[in-house]
Amino acid sequence: MAHDKIAVVDFGGQYAHLIAAKIRKLRVLAEILDPEAPAEAFRPYRGIILSGSPALSAYDEESAYDKGIYDLPIPILGFCFGHQEIAKHYGGEVRHTQREYGPAILEVRGSCPLFRGLGPQEVVWMSHGDTVTRLPPGFEETGVSRVPGEEPHPNAAIASDRLKRYGFQFHPEVDDTVHGEEMLRNFVFEVCGCRPDWTLEAYEEEALREIREKAADRPVFLLASGGVDSTVCAVLLGKALGPQRVRLLHVDNGLMRKGESREVLAEFRRRGWGDNLHFADASARFLKALQGVVAPEEKRRIIGDTFLAVFAEEASRLDLKNCLLAQGTIYPDTIETGGTRRADVIKTHHNRVPAVEAMIAEGRVLEPLKELYKAEVRELGERLGLPESLVWRHPFPGPGLGIRLLCSDGRAAEPEPGAREALGELAREAGVGATLLPVRSVGVKADLRSYESPVLLWDVDLPAVEALAARIYQKVPGVNRCVVDLTGRGLKRARPLPATVTAPRLDLLREADAVVMEALRRHGLYRTVWQCPTVFVPLEVDGQGRELVVVRPVLSERAMTARPFLPPPEFLEEVRRRILALPGVSGVCLDVTTKPPGTIEWE
Ligand code: XMP
Repeated sequence: MAHDKIAVVDFGGQYAHLIAAKIRKLRVLAEILDPEAPAEAFRPYRGIILSGSPALSAYDEESAYDKGIYDLPIPILGFCFGHQEIAKHYGGEVRHTQREYGPAILEVRGSCPLFRGLGPQEVVWMSHGDTVTRLPPGFEETGVSRVPGEEPHPNAAIASDRLKRYGFQFHPEVDDTVHGEEMLRNFVFEVCGCRPDWTLEAYEEEALREIREKAADRPVFLLASGGVDSTVCAVLLGKALGPQRVRLLHVDNGLMRKGESREVLAEFRRRGWGDNLHFADASARFLKALQGVVAPEEKRRIIGDTFLAVFAEEASRLDLKNCLLAQGTIYPDTIETGGTRRADVIKTHHNRVPAVEAMIAEGRVLEPLKELYKAEVRELGERLGLPESLVWRHPFPGPGLGIRLLCSDGRAAEPEPGAREALGELAREAGVGATLLPVRSVGVKADLRSYESPVLLWDVDLPAVEALAARIYQKVPGVNRCVVDLTGRGLKRARPLPATVTAPRLDLLREADAVVMEALRRHGLYRTVWQCPTVFVPLEVDGQGRELVVVRPVLSERAMTARPFLPPPEFLEEVRRRILALPGVSGVCLDVTTKPPGTIEWE
């Protein structure tokens, strides 16, 4: 079925995905296009949106995209960088000016169709250092922006109704632009004339038909990890073909959460999978392969390689000659941008074993979720009758608890020169306790992964901690993470302990993780939080060789950026009490780090 659709040109960052997801919520299909796409590729679309860019500047760069799009009879709307590009193309001027960051008031001028139904003043969200300083001929200024105490910024919104070209200096796709959705709605329906025909009901019907056509009478094989995507994929295939034609393989790598493999298998059995549900318990094999290994990336590599070996053996045992291969690939996995490329590699590399390579080469691959965002996959899962506990399961990394069980050779990681002094000064100023922990954890700085020191804070006021942490990253060299002590037991004297991946440590981590997951559910926070790793850090506090546990609840949209979630005191108290009661635990901390500079996981 041909849908009315909008093209979103991806100039980097995560703006484009946010825009596309917002438009899809209006039941109009939005697809991401690369800036390198030729103008002809835009013909099937009813509208084009040029996204903002965290890296590009319309002022000093000749941007590389096909300007032929401006010759197409298709409405174009640009945000931030995209807005400046439109202005520049039609003869306006863009200059570096003072930065505007955060909320501002937009004063609407004239009668732009995009502001129909809105007030004369709107709260909008800004993030830019360049401004359209001269309107292109034939355009009008449809809004100026004001931040209290500053000069108004001209041309915060511009338009040429005749050409159907529109630009916003602000970002309507972020929630902080209060009526951003209405602005997008006006563009999509009033200006582009789209019909709202992108529904999951229609998607499901199309997907079922396509699966049946493509599979013809062949069976389908799918690796079922228990994650949301592969589970929804399996159930969709089962609905299309019947579970007897869908062969599932679940591998337990011993790095899963408590009881997870058992639950996943039980759910598939309940849905009619019997002999076609294959299970490989490879936990002992993974444990053996990881014996004595300390370096994080080495652990990841070993887990990946072991998985491939197990999978290759199972695949040849299962004889997949006549099968199609299904994968739970979702839309962001198919888009090549900086932030999502790694996800793509991670998901697909599991399937690069010879038996599967052959299937891919022959085009015997089904990816029925590849047009959907995560939120849409979940909605589809609900439509298919999957229980909430599966549909809303938090994302879980392929290497599982393997990357949440930090290992150490027992040597203390030294902080960067000057870090102690800079932290001491900030702590005195803020009136809090702070020290550098003698371990390293991973973070992202300027798109690169970096291993740096975490800061331990105590006697701090939780609501104020994010602002304090931001100052720490700015002022203290070599720091990418802040954690707050929940123990009150002198964690500042923590010393590193030699530790590797062992069965008892894994079992203990599983228990601690189960405590946190259960508490999130009981306090009604499970769905608020995007992910909540529980991490073991081998730091000794009391001379008894016990673990330091870090709880890391984050809010996020697609894991490319994240903010710490600061849980209510009842939740923290329960988690603290129950984790400290576990044998072998000596301290509990709450991770309060934004991404960047810290990643969601610790390694
Ligand atoms: P970070 O830690 O980079 O994680 O902020 C972003 C998202 O990716 C997940 N993640 C992984 N997933 N294999 C995976 O399949 C991995 O090696 C891996 N490392 C991180 C992480 O849980 C988060 O959702």
